[in-house]
Amino acid sequence: MKILVTGGAGFIGSNFIYHMLSEHPDYDIVCLDALTYAGNLHTLEPALKNSRFKFVKGDITDRNAVFELFKNEKFDTVVNFAAESHVDRSINDPAIFLSTNVMGTQVLLDACREFGVSRFHQISTDEVYGDLPLDRPDLFFTEETPIHASSPYSASKAGADLLVLAYYRTYGLPVTVSRCSNNYGPYHFPEKLIPLIIVNLLHDKPIPVYGTGENIRDWLYVEDHCKAVDLVIHKGTPGEVYNIGGHNEMKNIDVVKLVISELGKSEDLITYVKDRAGHDKRYAIDPTKIHRELGWSPEVKFKDGIKKTVQWYLDNREWWEDLISGEYINYYEKMYKNR
Ligand code: NAD
Ligand code: DAU
Repeated sequence: MKILVTGGAGFIGSNFIYHMLSEHPDYDIVCLDALTYAGNLHTLEPALKNSRFKFVKGDITDRNAVFELFKNEKFDTVVNFAAESHVDRSINDPAIFLSTNVMGTQVLLDACREFGVSRFHQISTDEVYGDLPLDRPDLFFTEETPIHASSPYSASKAGADLLVLAYYRTYGLPVTVSRCSNNYGPYHFPEKLIPLIIVNLLHDKPIPVYGTGENIRDWLYVEDHCKAVDLVIHKGTPGEVYNIGGHNEMKNIDVVKLVISELGKSEDLITYVKDRAGHDKRYAIDPTKIHRELGWSPEVKFKDGIKKTVQWYLDNREWWEDLISGEYINYYEKMYKNR
């Protein structure tokens, strides 16, 4: 079995590569990644020592390069993690989100058709469903919830999902789609809430909380997501969508306070800042389908996952200290100064 993992130098893709190399000792894995600001080859250094793993630098929107790779490698399965993934960046500059997330997905789908790949799996997000009101805790996203994206990022992911499912209906391409809630864990780029809190606290810098901090996200440890994707690509039914989430809803402000207490820092560092435009209020996944049909359940409790994550950032300072120099400083200034 040979699997192409796109976007494998990013947060979830790299965790998925490590999961697959350890769980499937007979599989070959190729990672295609453009190494954007979010991709980091250091993350894959241990994998690069494995003879069953190969890294190829390339852009999923580059049709010629993608077709050449498919022709040479003859993949059985393609798992598409490659994306522009940060909502705030999509608000400032939507164009690259459409190019990578929609057009890049189309190139991969075309290559799968051309070279007879037996499964294309699209890594999607719960954000395609829009948001839920804060005063209706009885409501959850199911696979039947209408697509109702709020940000340019989620609209681009929704567009890709529709395209993937259209290739199933029109061409019979064997596809699956999974829509996961917010992940956290090792190798998470420090522009996202949890690693940003950890990194700022370790520098005794303010923690910018958008709006009132009452918005709710449904957090899942990244390894649990990887296990779910592994199940879907092996046992999921072509043409189907699977929601992934562990019923772990938290207000942003409570996440911030938990990490502060893990690191023994002061809540005085909490700073309320101007809200994100179009900020989704609450995400909450109903994972009944993947539990019932594929037997998946999350294994890591949030309080344990947060401890492990904080410890990982303490133990791997060189990984993130590199990332928060250079371009990240400009990004942070632009995003947070005078906010
Ligand atoms: P990330 O930003 O950490 O990583 C994205 C990776 O894709 C990077 O390595 C980057 O270099 C690569 N990439 C970007 N554009 C590319 C292109 N044109 N060609 C090839 N590679 C390219 O993202 P992540 O958080 O790991 O998310 C991975 C996927 O999971 C995305 O599709 C995202 O929408 C989805 N998702 C993320 C979360 C989450 O909480 N992070 C939750 C649900 C779904
Ligand atoms: O739900 C899945 C999605 O989760 C993925 O599809 C996205 O790729 C991923 O980035 C994530 O999106 P969010 O917008 O939920 O994640 P983020 O870490 O950017 O923000 C989490 C919450 O924290 C959100 O309500 C905004 C808030 N926030 C974020 C940052 C970066 C703050 O209050 N302050 C911040 O500085």
